[in-house]
Amino acid sequence: MKAVSLPRKNILGQKDFLAIADLSGEDILELLDLAKQIKTKHGMGEEYHPLKGKTLGMIFEKSSTRTRVSFEVGMFQLGGHALFLSGSELQIGRGETISDTAKVLSQYVDGIMIRTFEHSKVEELAKSATVPVINGLTDLAHPCQALADLLTIQEKKGKLKGLKLAYIGDGNNMAHSLMMACAKAGMHFAIGCPDGYRPEAQISENAKKEAEKNNGKVTIHTSPEEAIKDADIVYSDVWTSMGQEKENAIRLDAFKDYQINSSLVAHAKKDFYFMHCLPAHRGEEVTEDVIDGSRSIVFHQAANRLHAQKAILVDLMA
Ligand code: CP
Ligand code: NVA
Repeated sequence: MKAVSLPRKNILGQKDFLAIADLSGEDILELLDLAKQIKTKHGMGEEYHPLKGKTLGMIFEKSSTRTRVSFEVGMFQLGGHALFLSGSELQIGRGETISDTAKVLSQYVDGIMIRTFEHSKVEELAKSATVPVINGLTDLAHPCQALADLLTIQEKKGKLKGLKLAYIGDGNNMAHSLMMACAKAGMHFAIGCPDGYRPEAQISENAKKEAEKNNGKVTIHTSPEEAIKDADIVYSDVWTSMGQEKENAIRLDAFKDYQINSSLVAHAKKDFYFMHCLPAHRGEEVTEDVIDGSRSIVFHQAANRLHAQKAILVDLMA
């Protein structure tokens, strides 16, 4: 195997990757291009080690399968190393401040990925750290997933502009990042959600303005049938996110009419694809026949976490 280098510039032009809102539509397309180049090289078995000798510290205050493994494997494939740091075992679990943690970790590692509850914690970490900080999910946003999702849609549909993505379910972190990502990409993002579970008003307003600039659209519906009508992509996420476990019974009831099943997807375009960030709860937000059916691309989607994040790591840390 021969080591290869890709001609590249700093696409993001910023230290951190915290929210899709911080990226321009052009940044997103360039990152997707870089991800595709890195993916192709990896597929051909070519070594690409721009992060040789570099370490990513990964702080997890919530569970993870995809984010943890794809970042760790991604760092390894790029020639670097990743450290898993459990929030409860770090001194932050015993009250050391985020700011001190950021300053200390910056002495040892070349980048920090964090998954936590409050979005403000990630912003504070980024402010105090001298190394790049990547948001691996907060209660407010999941930008790495949204970027990987655009990569998947682009690969499967050959374009982004003009496509309609219908997100059925909770106006949560996933909805926020996807809404902004679709708006920046000139897509139509339609959410179907119960009235009390709309995305945050300010985020929706910002996304609507962004969509207008890019000939896209953001629409909010309480009727799932209306949201899903003629959709190219049908998307769902869990009804109860990490940290909301106590609300589970109330949520199961609130979302019962928002399940993605064969009668609901009959309103989408015939060639629709089904996506889900995973983990999924079959029988709740989606039925088995849809998520395990022929239109589902959820594992292709999961695979792309690796490739999209490698582009982020290279852009911020190489
Ligand atoms: N989609 C996603 O972020 O999965 P994990 O919670 O397993 O990381
Ligand atoms: N909304 C979900 C996404 C998991 C990847 C959660 O926050 O638990």
